[in-house]
Amino acid sequence: MQELMNGFSKLSKERKIELLKANIPAIKDKIDNIKQFWHEDEALQKRFDEFSENTISNYYLPFGIAPNFLINGETFNIPMVTEESSVVAAASKAAKFWVQRGGFKAKVHSVKKIGHVHFIYNGEKEGLIEFFKQNKQELIKSVSSLTANMEKRGGGIMGCELIDKRASLQNYFQIEILFNTCDAMGANFINSVLEEFARNFEMGFRISATYEPESEMEIIMSILSNYTPECLVTSKVSCPINDLGEVNGMDPQTFSRKFVRAVEIARIDRYRAVTHNKGILNGIDALVLATGNDFRAIEACAHAYASANGSYQSLSQAWIKDEKLYFTLTIPLSLGTVGGLTSLHPLARLSLDILGNPQAEKLMEITASLGLAQNFSAISSLVTHGIQKGHMKMHLLNILNQLGCSKNEVNQAKEYFFDKVVSYTAVSNFINSLRVSQ
Ligand code: MEV
Repeated sequence: MQELMNGFSKLSKERKIELLKANIPAIKDKIDNIKQFWHEDEALQKRFDEFSENTISNYYLPFGIAPNFLINGETFNIPMVTEESSVVAAASKAAKFWVQRGGFKAKVHSVKKIGHVHFIYNGEKEGLIEFFKQNKQELIKSVSSLTANMEKRGGGIMGCELIDKRASLQNYFQIEILFNTCDAMGANFINSVLEEFARNFEMGFRISATYEPESEMEIIMSILSNYTPECLVTSKVSCPINDLGEVNGMDPQTFSRKFVRAVEIARIDRYRAVTHNKGILNGIDALVLATGNDFRAIEACAHAYASANGSYQSLSQAWIKDEKLYFTLTIPLSLGTVGGLTSLHPLARLSLDILGNPQAEKLMEITASLGLAQNFSAISSLVTHGIQKGHMKMHLLNILNQLGCSKNEVNQAKEYFFDKVVSYTAVSNFINSLRVSQ
């Protein structure tokens, strides 16, 4: 077993790499390559290093653009960071398709975020309720040094309730606080407010007349919830079926019928729903990442929302009415356009510039539209020629890169595989045959 690496975090990057070399023989001759990904601008590299801990290099991912998104009458070129081939191409294809059919219509329903003080109390509930009722406004005021700035921007605490959770867990109560964090994602703001609120609540309650001194009262934790069903946005597209024209060679009536069926399947079958929603998140995550937002929070929330009614379902819906196809996506998206990485990471900053520096609500609308576009492309392929056609064409380039192909070999392979099935074996056989014949 490897010796414990004490003090690793305090070492320089060079020393960290040396220590890894000494501990992992298999990377001894390889790990120095990692330095080629250090940024030549030392100040910038320092900033990247400080985003996280124990950093030894940067991890590159492709940064692409899906152009031509028409959303609420405005055109956007959407930055996307993703490693999966064909995701950006699929989004771009859907954007171009819908730009000729009225574009995406998106609308934010609400922007409330939520956090909780979780605590235990085994005294009389009535005394607790009375204290909370009498002191709620005072408690909100007690955190005003933290909320004042946000209030100036139109946000702050939107509501605050005591919730009795004892039916689910012994002696368990919550104080649930609703927030509007304006254009900030607001995680640090919410958590700071919750922690301060919890301290003031505990102190106040313990010295109040309604507290029972012999009872047990304990704050367990204070934390925001990444489940934000009230930070919700819908994006939709629709058009007369005949205006769809042929889709991937399929007539519009058959296409629409199969399309709606495919979405219905994802509403009732969990196996399909997860893949369906993953396709939506292919687009959403790519933009969330490009703008320096928290894609883990978005993912966790999206999946919880997909199971909000007790079974995991498709986040999108499709139907036909009066010879028109309707396709919509409603999803919670807690996003920010100020603070955090959005100002510190130069590419996150640039992404927001590319989008015209949207406010958080507009970013929610753009992001939901991208998710809908991604879903439209995936289902369109699935119900027509299947996904492998487009997928493997894009994947061809990855395989050619893995095989270390020259420009000439790449061109010949692209031409050869234009009308053939791409697989690793077929491509490597083809490249070997080229190499042998030279
Ligand atoms: C691949 O990353 C995503 C798809 O599987 C989504 C779907 O099946 O809807 C194509």
